[in-house]
Amino acid sequence: MQDVLNYIDGRRGEFQADLLALLRMASVSADPAFSPEVRRAAEWIRSHLADLGLAAELVETAGHPIVYAESAPVAGAPVALVYGHYDVQPPDPLDQWTTPPFEPAIRDGKVFARGATDDKGQMLTHVKSVQSWLAAAGRLPLQVKFVIEGEEEVGSEHLGRFLRDNAPRLACDCVVISDTSQFAPGVPAITYGLRGIAYFELRLFGPKQDLHSGVFGGGVANPAVALSAMLAALVDRDGRITVPGFYDDVVPLTDAERAEFASLPFDEAAFKRQLGVAELAGEQGYTTIERRWARPTFDVNGLTSGYQGEGAKTVLPARASAKFSFRLVPNQDPHKIAAALRRRLEELVPPGIRMELVEHHGAPGIVMPLDSPYLQAAAAAVEQGFQRRPVFIREGGSIPIVNTFAEVLGADVLLLGWGQNDDNPHGPNEKFSLDDYHRGVRASAVLWQELAAIKNQPL
Ligand code: BES
Ligand code: ZN
Repeated sequence: MQDVLNYIDGRRGEFQADLLALLRMASVSADPAFSPEVRRAAEWIRSHLADLGLAAELVETAGHPIVYAESAPVAGAPVALVYGHYDVQPPDPLDQWTTPPFEPAIRDGKVFARGATDDKGQMLTHVKSVQSWLAAAGRLPLQVKFVIEGEEEVGSEHLGRFLRDNAPRLACDCVVISDTSQFAPGVPAITYGLRGIAYFELRLFGPKQDLHSGVFGGGVANPAVALSAMLAALVDRDGRITVPGFYDDVVPLTDAERAEFASLPFDEAAFKRQLGVAELAGEQGYTTIERRWARPTFDVNGLTSGYQGEGAKTVLPARASAKFSFRLVPNQDPHKIAAALRRRLEELVPPGIRMELVEHHGAPGIVMPLDSPYLQAAAAAVEQGFQRRPVFIREGGSIPIVNTFAEVLGADVLLLGWGQNDDNPHGPNEKFSLDDYHRGVRASAVLWQELAAIKNQPL
């Protein structure tokens, strides 16, 4: 093991250069204009894994390709499957980046680029740990399989099918995912719960074309006013979602969990400063951590209507639209939520306005059991990589495919996040600490050893 860790310490510069090369590829999955770059990133990872001696291929889908690779089987040892994604969110708003999103720049020990933390940097730690084992020890202590997809940021539409169709080939004892965060600087974490999501677009249509708001205003329904009113009617003053039945299936927080969350070293004042807000807000009766990790929420993600240019324009817009989403918690069903939402919006839409509701991606939330031996092995590995015992947390983000992994492969899922809360994923100036990258590679290398020890013990 020490040889492997020494190898990792000696290759910091080389491992960073590889990360920078991957970050230069603009693999934005949401926008078809970037498709060639998405493929370039997939191919880069495939050939990288093949160069390490793994059997590696690109699996075509109706969307972006999946990279699949596996190392040699190891008799008597468990099998770990690494899941990650090489696609990234759109880099907008571009004018808010200090340096361009696809020209990675290192400042203050951090690499700034779209995808730095989410998820290229985090995912690559497992590739680098495999490289280090193979180079320094000549073999891995267990078999590692890689499923690196290109559609996570758009809902993993085609990955479920691949998992179902290839279940025997993908068989594994645990799924390792590094696509979350540490709890705080110096406080590594293992995440045992994620929220789900239900994402929608509401389009409202009024008059057949934009009108003079003085000549026609008052005589015809304004789609922008209707949209604001309909969206506002989805939450009440206490931050509760008003869609009938919305909370019916929500698993409430237990007293024990609430006590554990409350015992975490969370600094609310620092959190406000980080976000640049004077006050925090959310559902009444819950703490900030509870609201973010374990309660369902509603957020508008984009609003479009009327005149957005310089100065003023007295227009009554012909249409208005919004993209919005609910974060869900176990046991809420995104399909049930969609049906209830549609019924509610149909009640709310005023006369003279026609509505269209588009259902984008959806995924349920998940909470994993804490008593898995793999989880304990992961805790030991994180402790060695980060020099501190991890805390066990839930997070508010979503990784849509996690449920499918648990269901189809029946494997335990280990969410080992190397990121920081202020890494700005999805925002401008996304970054990843190069120390966290290095520690992540070390923790991953130890993880293979710790996991291998589980089944190697005589029964
Ligand atoms: N890496 C994130 C998810 C995440 C981030 C979980 C931080 C916990 C903490 C992932 O890439 C992501 O952003 N997922 C999307 C999924 C959606 C597009 C279906 C999300 O949560 O918005
Ligand atoms: Zn991600």
